[in-house]
Amino acid sequence: MDEKITELTQEAVSAIDQAETLEQLQAIRVKYLGKKGIITGLLRSLGQVAPEARPRLGQAVNSARATVEQRIEARREQLAAELTQARLERERIDITLPGRVWPRGRLHPLTQTLNDIKAFFMGYGFEVVEGPEVETDYYNFEALNIPKDHPARDMQDTFYLGEDLLLRTQTSPVQIRVMEATKPPVRIIAPGKVYRVDADPTHSPMFQQVEGLLVDKDITFGDLKGILAEFARHLFGKERGVRFRPSYFPFTEPSAEMDISCMMCKGAGCRVCSEEGWIEILGSGMVHPRVLEMVGYDPEEVGGFAFGMGVERIAMLRYGIDDIRLFFDNDLRFLHQF
Ligand code: FA5
Ligand code: MG
Repeated sequence: MDEKITELTQEAVSAIDQAETLEQLQAIRVKYLGKKGIITGLLRSLGQVAPEARPRLGQAVNSARATVEQRIEARREQLAAELTQARLERERIDITLPGRVWPRGRLHPLTQTLNDIKAFFMGYGFEVVEGPEVETDYYNFEALNIPKDHPARDMQDTFYLGEDLLLRTQTSPVQIRVMEATKPPVRIIAPGKVYRVDADPTHSPMFQQVEGLLVDKDITFGDLKGILAEFARHLFGKERGVRFRPSYFPFTEPSAEMDISCMMCKGAGCRVCSEEGWIEILGSGMVHPRVLEMVGYDPEEVGGFAFGMGVERIAMLRYGIDDIRLFFDNDLRFLHQF
């Protein structure tokens, strides 16, 4: 029996040392120390040995059990530590790696330009208002003194949505809506998208205008020239050439267009300015008495000036861009430069 105990103990210990997982260890515990385990069985069988040998053998079995228990516990701790270590290795975080950089957004060059235009006129007390992009024939043409047979009403210039509905071709209808709703004095700018059947390096089917309208007593053409020339100096600098050119709009009289010297050829003439040396950025004039009458103002009492500028044209001139379509291609290599 002594020999058997020693043998069993050695066998158990070597099994414990070879156990690689907690599950294997648990199986060993059951095999030797469980209710039906080998060592438990030995304790039970003590009843059959001679009474005088019982205490010694009992002690030997108990000590074998204690040894096996200790070895299991020691191995369990060892295995648990190894598992933790392996897990730490696996989940190691390299805090020296550079972080992920989130790309920083920036304002589109057209938004930047529009913001600058707004800021300039707000400095002169102009209020910013908006009007609908889908307009009626009345506001886009009729109330602006544009007769039925005017070429601007041609299908080749205007996107019609129905008999009477269209995509506004200019921001000028906002003038009418504002004057109908308020009494003079009026001092507004109206930025927004407009649409025309038009496409080449300086014309886009959708583009933005900023309308301006000032109505008050004793307003002269000198006031109009003064503020627009100041505007051009503010946006393009003093060196850039500016000129007013007589023009015609049915809703202003007299009318003028303002040109800025071409940014590409500096006035020599090139593809961008159609060999002119100048690029038109806005139309303007003194509000036509008939327009004032139609909104219920008295042309004997008040007068005013109005202007409408192309935001894309201004951005092209400012940044030296030779094709308007670049603004709408959403090419990040282009947009990141601003
Ligand atoms: C008008 O649209 C008038 N409503 C402007 C006006 C307002 C005159 C108030 C008098 C009083 P015009 O069609 O010229 O005018 O357009 C004004 C500006 O819009 C042009 O000077 C140009 O800068 C810009 N523009 C015109 N067509 C296009 C286009 N297809 N793409 C980009 N910009 C354009
Ligand atoms: Mg024009």
